[in-house]
Amino acid sequence: MKKIPFNCPNISRNLKTISNLKQFSSNGPITIKCINWLKKNLKCKDAILTHSCTAALEMCALLLNIKKGDEIIMPSYTFVSTANAFVLRGGKPVFVDIDPNTCNIDPSKIKQAISRKTKAIVVVHYAGVSCNMDPIIKIAKQHKLYVIEDAAQAILSTYKGKPLGSIGDLATLSFHETKNIHCGQGGALLINNPKFIKRAKVLRDKGTNRDLFNQNMVKKYTWVDYGSSYGLSEINAAFLYSRLKQAKQITKKRIKIFNQYHKLLENLEIKKLIKRPSTPKYAKHNGHIYYLIVRNNQRNKLIKYLKQKKINTVFHYIPLHDSPFGRLKTKVGSTMYNTNFISNNLLRLPMHFYLSKKNIKQCTNQIKSFLQ
Ligand SMILES: Cc1ncc(COP(=O)(O)O)c(C=O)c1O
Repeated sequence: MKKIPFNCPNISRNLKTISNLKQFSSNGPITIKCINWLKKNLKCKDAILTHSCTAALEMCALLLNIKKGDEIIMPSYTFVSTANAFVLRGGKPVFVDIDPNTCNIDPSKIKQAISRKTKAIVVVHYAGVSCNMDPIIKIAKQHKLYVIEDAAQAILSTYKGKPLGSIGDLATLSFHETKNIHCGQGGALLINNPKFIKRAKVLRDKGTNRDLFNQNMVKKYTWVDYGSSYGLSEINAAFLYSRLKQAKQITKKRIKIFNQYHKLLENLEIKKLIKRPSTPKYAKHNGHIYYLIVRNNQRNKLIKYLKQKKINTVFHYIPLHDSPFGRLKTKVGSTMYNTNFISNNLLRLPMHFYLSKKNIKQCTNQIKSFLQ
């Protein structure tokens, strides 16, 4: 049997566009095409292409003027960059438990974590399934907090019909090769609160007003604020644009794979050997991840067994509150029962554009023969 990889990045055959480029550094004509695609399809007010989602999260911390001691509420069940971006500015992530049905931040646990120092709530739409945004936005309004959506995995997913990334003051996307839409490595900052638009461009351009210079609005460009080199090269943007044009087809295929897994694994859930992912009524996901919660502490043994059968499956986040640096730089704002449980029992199955029905069957058959 041929090996079934966990991920196989979707590739562009359109290398001609890259050899035709006139500009190779960031913020050229192809970047503008990508931004227009994001504005049209994700309904954000403006967008900036970045070299990673991590960079876009760092821009969020700068835009919010995060200072030493400021607190930012977020889940512990997330990628390190969600927290590290704020820690870099002296901020303190305050972790809140997740809802075990979605692996997303539990809105009912947020209020108890708010203090006078709280500046923002960062939500993570895990597996491209939306967080329950209405109660989160309500709490944020009551306490005058900013909302940031870490939508790294959530391109083209929706909440009550609204695209993810269009709801918070700011949002971030990842175009890393592990994501539905990628360019090797890249990301985007989506801006919905207009007060951040002008400064975000300065932060992207190394702290200069180069954007105004490019628009002939100043005679020379100069250093005006904090900043870094956050942009995405036109080479990556050209690859990205070719994938964005295919984004709806890619998403459709992934949802089809998700639904095939879901059907084939139904019986194991009925027998209480696994729990399949559940999608709340308010959410439409993008087929980013198909995961199982494996019962009876069998997850690690199942990974080993599938590896022997040449099927590559993986666990996911190690909770940040329990990491060596997390213990120094963060605090917990609720119990972490669900976070720890999900981290110990969640298993991600192979999921990529090129996965065949035969691959899916091989995978589910092997899971059944191990668990039953
Ligand atoms: C929730 C989340 N946020 C941020 C990131 C970082 O993305 P990037 O690799 O584009 O910096 C990831 C990466 O997987 C992620 O899963």
